[in-house]
Amino acid sequence: MHHFTELADVPDLPHLLETAKTVAQSPFSLDTLGRHKTLGLIFFNSSLRTRLSSQKAARNLGMEVIVMNVSTDGWQLEFQDGAIMNQGKAEHIKDAAAVMGSYCDILGVRSFPSLTDRDADYAEQVLTAFKKYSGVPVVSLESATRHPLQSLTDVFTIQSHWPDHRPKVVLTWAPHPRALPQAVANSFAEWMNPLDVDFVITHPEGYELHADFVGSATVTHDQRAAFEQADFIYAKNWSSYSEYGQILRADEEWMVTAEKMALTRQAKFMHCLPVRRNVVVADEVMDSAQNITIEQAGNRVVGMQAVLVEILQNIG
Ligand code: CP
Repeated sequence: MHHFTELADVPDLPHLLETAKTVAQSPFSLDTLGRHKTLGLIFFNSSLRTRLSSQKAARNLGMEVIVMNVSTDGWQLEFQDGAIMNQGKAEHIKDAAAVMGSYCDILGVRSFPSLTDRDADYAEQVLTAFKKYSGVPVVSLESATRHPLQSLTDVFTIQSHWPDHRPKVVLTWAPHPRALPQAVANSFAEWMNPLDVDFVITHPEGYELHADFVGSATVTHDQRAAFEQADFIYAKNWSSYSEYGQILRADEEWMVTAEKMALTRQAKFMHCLPVRRNVVVADEVMDSAQNITIEQAGNRVVGMQAVLVEILQNIG
């Protein structure tokens, strides 16, 4: 594997999941694979899990890690080709990415969408520039449209709790007071579609995801019907794609509650975190045995480490 920015970058998903399993069982068995190699973690936006789990994963493989918060600590970056840079932006991404690539063997990049310009966001300007100009493999730490490290971890976590029947996996929209990206939901759908699961997406009208991500999932506006007989409930808020970046509703009707979880087959509750308690999901669910979000977050180390193993083995 070279880059890891979307499912299409993974040449062999079963192999990557096998690597993840091996890493989980024996996290230090390849502790010299990354010797004399440096991982750069470039953050345009906030992070807790991705930042810490990526550092831990790299160190488990013997890598050095450099972390930079570009938005607060770096020069303001220009992304437009041919720009006359006589305003506020001090450095072009062509130069900045090339310099970062010269210091690092692999670059991780986090860059959220603007949620104001759908075409620009879905063109993945930042990630594309890093892939084009850095000269090294790029790992998405969450981009404008996808969060593949989260999705790989989610698949691994679901596989760890696989029931003795074909599971029903439900992605449910849930309310939130702020406009959030579609990235986690897009990506979760992208990674669920190839699995042998009954995959259902439920959301209020107006929150349809792009058809490329929905794939063959069943989509319903009836959240309670979706929850019936589910084995996994994955909650996430996202802003509207059709009325781009808008919050169309924020009432608590779509919050995940114990009463709704009772409709399921004692489903595991999942969320990428951070989560707003008693807005997205009720305390009674978060504090129940059905909640596996902490295990899910812990598995982020496994997901990143598996990705780094496959990239390091490829670059030699
Ligand atoms: N789930 C996730 O990516 O968490 P952070 O935003 O804290 O990294």
